[in-house]
Amino acid sequence: MKAVFPINYNLEFEPDFKKFTFIGKEKISIMISKPTNKIVLHAAELEIKQCKIFWNGIEIKPKIRLDEKTEELTLAFSRRISGKAVLSIDFIGQLNDKLVGFYRSKYKYKGKERHLATTQFEAADARRAFPCWDEPEAKATFDVSLLVDRHHTAISNMPIISKKIEDQKILYKFDTTPVMSTYLLYLAVGEFESISTKSGKTLIRVITTHGKKQQGKLSLEFTKQFLSYFEKYFKIAYPLPKLDMIAIPDFASGAMENWGAITFRETILLYDPKTSSTETKQHIAEVIAHEIAHQWFGNLVTMKWWNDLWLNESFATFMATKAVDALYPEWDFWDQFLISEMTGGLSLDSLKSSHPIDVPVKSPADVRQIFDEISYNKGGCVLMMLENFIGDDNFRKGLYGYLKKHEYANATTEDLWNSLGSISKQPVRQMMNTWVRQVGYPVIEAKTKDSKLRLSQSRFLLENNGKAKQGNWIIPLSVRTGDKVTTKLMKRPITIPYKEDWFKVNDGQKGFYRVKYDKDSLYALAKQVEEKTISNVDRWSIHHDLFALCISNQISFREYLDGVRHYEDEDDYVVLSDIISSLNFFYILLSKEEFWDEIKKFNLDFFNKVFAKLGWDPANEEKSTSALLRAQVISSLGRLEDQDIVTEARSRFANLSKTGKLNPDLRGPIYSVIAWTGDSSTYQKMLGLYRKAQTQEEMVRLLSSLANFQDRKLLSKTLSFTLTKEVRTQNLFQPIARMVTNPQGKELVLPWIKQNWKGIVSRFGVGNPLLNRIIGSVSIESDFAKEKEIKNFFAKHHVPGTEMKLAQTLERIRINARLVQSIRKEFS
Ligand code: BES
Ligand code: ZN
Repeated sequence: MKAVFPINYNLEFEPDFKKFTFIGKEKISIMISKPTNKIVLHAAELEIKQCKIFWNGIEIKPKIRLDEKTEELTLAFSRRISGKAVLSIDFIGQLNDKLVGFYRSKYKYKGKERHLATTQFEAADARRAFPCWDEPEAKATFDVSLLVDRHHTAISNMPIISKKIEDQKILYKFDTTPVMSTYLLYLAVGEFESISTKSGKTLIRVITTHGKKQQGKLSLEFTKQFLSYFEKYFKIAYPLPKLDMIAIPDFASGAMENWGAITFRETILLYDPKTSSTETKQHIAEVIAHEIAHQWFGNLVTMKWWNDLWLNESFATFMATKAVDALYPEWDFWDQFLISEMTGGLSLDSLKSSHPIDVPVKSPADVRQIFDEISYNKGGCVLMMLENFIGDDNFRKGLYGYLKKHEYANATTEDLWNSLGSISKQPVRQMMNTWVRQVGYPVIEAKTKDSKLRLSQSRFLLENNGKAKQGNWIIPLSVRTGDKVTTKLMKRPITIPYKEDWFKVNDGQKGFYRVKYDKDSLYALAKQVEEKTISNVDRWSIHHDLFALCISNQISFREYLDGVRHYEDEDDYVVLSDIISSLNFFYILLSKEEFWDEIKKFNLDFFNKVFAKLGWDPANEEKSTSALLRAQVISSLGRLEDQDIVTEARSRFANLSKTGKLNPDLRGPIYSVIAWTGDSSTYQKMLGLYRKAQTQEEMVRLLSSLANFQDRKLLSKTLSFTLTKEVRTQNLFQPIARMVTNPQGKELVLPWIKQNWKGIVSRFGVGNPLLNRIIGSVSIESDFAKEKEIKNFFAKHHVPGTEMKLAQTLERIRINARLVQSIRKEFS
């Protein structure tokens, strides 16, 4: 227990929409457990107007000092105090446009520019709105009031309990929150509209700016379904009287789980049946489920410190898939989990510069960096592995015990292992610590000899020069032969008797590891791939590992392509999607090589076989994943200038101009093809469509396509356009992400970043996670000189909070460079 801790915050804010500032007044009830003459709390970018403390019936004025570097506000008293006291602070802050703290968001309605004010406090930005103990463990209750202009309304975590007219303003008072962490507090002021429904006693609303509430219908339905799903799964009721889902025009991440007032990017909450794609629909469901899962995992029970961030994010990730799969089994969400989670987790964690799930963090800059594929994807995968190991029922019961024991308080990873271990009577802690405390994951080498199968493990690394830490994992091993699955906890090399024709290690890809088969075993498996005697997930797994073995130089590129040939009759979405992504990776990686045409030819043949089965228009009762596959394959074929694809895309695009009609699932791919084969007049047309677009989803599609032209002059124009006011900061990354997959554009990105770095940093603000995505985009580079150049540049222009991402990017470039060298040798 800390020497001084908060019990209740009474907060009043009065935003000023002319000056974009706010006045704040707070009274914090605190408990001082050890006599002290100094109190330290967090504050940043605030001007403190007045500060006093009421203690034992007297009022004391402290000396105050705000250190902008440590973001600490120190109050020094002339005497020692202890026990209960009330701290009273008046302050002024900025409604900034950096998308953190208390910030403003701009939008247009009826042709006029308008603003709203909203908050984003995770991980450590509540201190930008009011002085507080801005750490997850310092839980307190909050009484919020907002004094706003007459035409504005106000939103916070709890329902409004009173609304009073004061002069020209309205004072909204909100009910007291449960005991909770500062990063979950929420405030909003602006002109909103909403639609609502009820789930049991809970009022659910979808809130938007004016003119958009009808696009919230789908989300309202999802919210109702997922809220009730989680109440049943956890067997703990959602404790607040209301749940708001709020669409914010400017938003740094995708969504934020503020208790009772979840915020979203518009593209992740608003759905327009005429223009929104299947992908958008499924993504909306997933993100809503993710944020609602946080209402238990994160809000009710919170990690003690950010090193255990995974307790929040991995659980929300894992539970989201569980919930969506339960309600929409036809979307095959556990299969899609391989693409959305497993791929990114295995990929990042195969770098030396990865980090363990449980990682020491101190500063806010450290914390921001770990919202990554380790805390989300790898964590989600190891939970799937654990659930599979102890069984669904033990898993659910263990979670219940953990949530109940720590509700309205904080917990650690150890607490979770205790609960799951005691319910399942399995060595959960021993096993899981090898996955959570160690960086990396194993590759199991499988060798057969004399009717025996020998399995051994070592760390899987893409850049293996013997210098990185090795490791040892307790692996819940599974080996399938035919209908039989053998399971074992594997710590050391083991030998299993083996008589069958084939075996597949890591059945159903439940484990977070890769497998390397000897030649004979792989050959036997290839036959099962062709005949589809093994599941789609196992077929995915074999290809996925083969690709990684190629990138890490353990098999040749030719051997990899030979492997792909066994998938010529493949028809499953996740398997094909993985192969297409991998082939597209080589397409871009090798675009400057003499033998590029050979690569293109290989891809063209493969993609055309896939497309032949799909066609342009959805078949009756086809799976929703076919729509996803169709979009991917059309975009890929467009890049290869397949004539049939280009012709048909043009005719459909022309029809869009005439009738305004175009299948939402084909919009993204068709814009891409049109751009790739278009000239400057096409560019103007597309820019016009961007300017006229009615939804952000449509804008993002068009913006990305502006990065898909071949003419470098046009691409440079897009890069410049990206930094104009016409592109929201939140979308700045989109065209860059596309540009690096464009063989004509990829070389333009690094010079552009270098030239505009200052501007980019000031636009985002130091510590913005979007900055890391910009740095990460150059990991497509593939020569050693570029790696040096990037390293030198960022050494000179260092920004705190980018260290990890930079190291990972440099490592990926070295891996690419080595790969290109070895492929060149194969082709020479
Ligand atoms: N808690 C996060 C939001 C967040 C991210 C806050 C980074 C501070 C820094 C939220 O629950 C989340 O995970 N959002 C995701 C969407 C999710 C479905 C992957 C996001 O914003 O990308
Ligand atoms: Zn989350």
